[in-house]
Amino acid sequence: MCGIIGYTGYARAMPVIIDGLRKLEHRGYDSAGIAIYREGELEINKKEGPLANLLADLEDNPDSCMGIGHTRWATHGVPSDKNAHPHTDCKGRIALVHNGIIENYASLRKELILEGHDFISETDTEVAAHLIEKFYRGSLETAVRKTVSYLQGSFALAVISRDDPRTIVAAKKGSSLVIGLGEGENYVTSDIPAILERASQLYILEDNEIAVITPDKVSITDFGGNPVEKEIFEVDLEPIAVEKGGYDHFMLKEIHEQPAAIRKTLQGWIKDGRVDLSALEFDEAFKNTRKIYIVACGTAYHAGMVGRLAIEKLARIPVETDIASEFRYRDILWHPDDLMIVISQSGETGDTLAALREAKRRGIKVLAVTNAVGSAAAREADRVIYTHAGPEIAVASTKAYSTQLVVMYLIALYLAEIKQNYDSEEISGLVNNMFYLDAMVEQVLKEQDKIKNLAEKYRDVESTFFLGRGIDYAVAMEGALKLKETSYIHAEAYPAGEIKHGPIALIDDGVPVLALISQDHLVDKAMSNIKEVKARGAVVVAICKENLQENCQECDEQILLPQVNPILAPVVSVVPLQIFAYYMALFRGNNVDTPRNLTKSVTVE
Ligand code: G6P
Repeated sequence: MCGIIGYTGYARAMPVIIDGLRKLEHRGYDSAGIAIYREGELEINKKEGPLANLLADLEDNPDSCMGIGHTRWATHGVPSDKNAHPHTDCKGRIALVHNGIIENYASLRKELILEGHDFISETDTEVAAHLIEKFYRGSLETAVRKTVSYLQGSFALAVISRDDPRTIVAAKKGSSLVIGLGEGENYVTSDIPAILERASQLYILEDNEIAVITPDKVSITDFGGNPVEKEIFEVDLEPIAVEKGGYDHFMLKEIHEQPAAIRKTLQGWIKDGRVDLSALEFDEAFKNTRKIYIVACGTAYHAGMVGRLAIEKLARIPVETDIASEFRYRDILWHPDDLMIVISQSGETGDTLAALREAKRRGIKVLAVTNAVGSAAAREADRVIYTHAGPEIAVASTKAYSTQLVVMYLIALYLAEIKQNYDSEEISGLVNNMFYLDAMVEQVLKEQDKIKNLAEKYRDVESTFFLGRGIDYAVAMEGALKLKETSYIHAEAYPAGEIKHGPIALIDDGVPVLALISQDHLVDKAMSNIKEVKARGAVVVAICKENLQENCQECDEQILLPQVNPILAPVVSVVPLQIFAYYMALFRGNNVDTPRNLTKSVTVE
């Protein structure tokens, strides 16, 4: 969602903030803004559109050593210059940036207007600036503390005042906020990678905490004013790679990084031909597990769908996979021996975290699968398994998904052993196959030009379908999501056997149907469904395993996959769909890495 960066120190603030904003752009790119302290004034620049619009007009300010910046993903009020952050009070004395949603903003705004405050924007955020103004008596910290007691909803706030050239006050509830510790300089950000090159020692703010940040000191208290002792959190991460490494877009680069990411994610978890997760020291919970809830959003949810099928098949434990925003309002029949697995690339998705917290409140054990070290999911879950995808910049997720799949297989295989519900030959065959996944993905990547040609052919279609049966349906869901996100074309995933119950009415001459065919035992059934859509004019592109090529003769096009074990097929079969989505976006002239209306990390409900 929105990105926050702040700097206070003895160096120039502007370059630090601009660099931070560049690394935060994937969190929100409908507008951006900066507030810089200079000689008793706050200089504010904000612009609708991508960060480049702001940077084009921005003059460096060589004297300023403190400032805050923001990249926005609009929730309240359209993307515009005036709705962009930072927001100020009536007198321009206070400037602040915010991530989250202030749920009671409407009533607060009404009261503040009656008291004489002038509002400029349509945002929920602006009420916070006016409340701070109302309570300000010379201490920014006191005014912020008073203000947060009036705010409902979620917020990460970074606030500065023209009365103090050194101090940033930050407050957190719900949305993440991290303080980077430097020598004679300190930082505040919503995302660790935005400051990683500058600070590897961090204070991670917890909910209901306020930090007063100056170049030489950070003091933290809770909302009640009680001092909070923080441990320093050391991050050992590669700094974010902002270069595209010779690729035109991050999305294509990240698609090609998948073999290496898969290898890295597997590392250390397989010993003597067996998956071994005992280092997690979670065997007791695994052993006792009666039922598993896998909860996630977006692409991560699709990885969870595959995880469910793998765990049920291999470990014979019942699994429910839930979309987090639905899960949190469902009446779950909790049992103390349930286990929750949350999957989240960012580890910061609001709905996923809400589900995690609800499980913890109920005394349920939670295992997080995330790509983000130090993220809320990683910190709050009982245990964490990291996907080692490396920083994913493109908003459309690719390498995070394939590494999430790898972790789901590791969990399924380990649970199978722990529960002793397994066929040892099948399990060791699968473990062995896991080592070839990277090479198989490499092989599919070689089909790139063929897939590019297909995209060129279908670039102007208005609607597409993605069909599959069993685990192929889970991949169809991910393929359709990728295409929607990047190309803005209607893409609908359906279980192949279900399409005749309605959606087949939408099949007409020339409608492309991408059919996933990797499940040997379901190939005949899938082909019957394909014949049904072909008979109604669809053009069918089969993404099929080499050994099933013969069965797919009647399809109009074929993209061949190596002979992968059917359970593991998603890691391989998703790749052509990612490449297809990439080229469709490219040929349609869309912003591949930052598609319209989307954001990388959705921290609000
Ligand atoms: C957003 C992103 C998706 C992602 C989803 C869940 O919608 O654009 O790519 O799959 O959030 O994010 P998470 O970080 O929890 O995996």
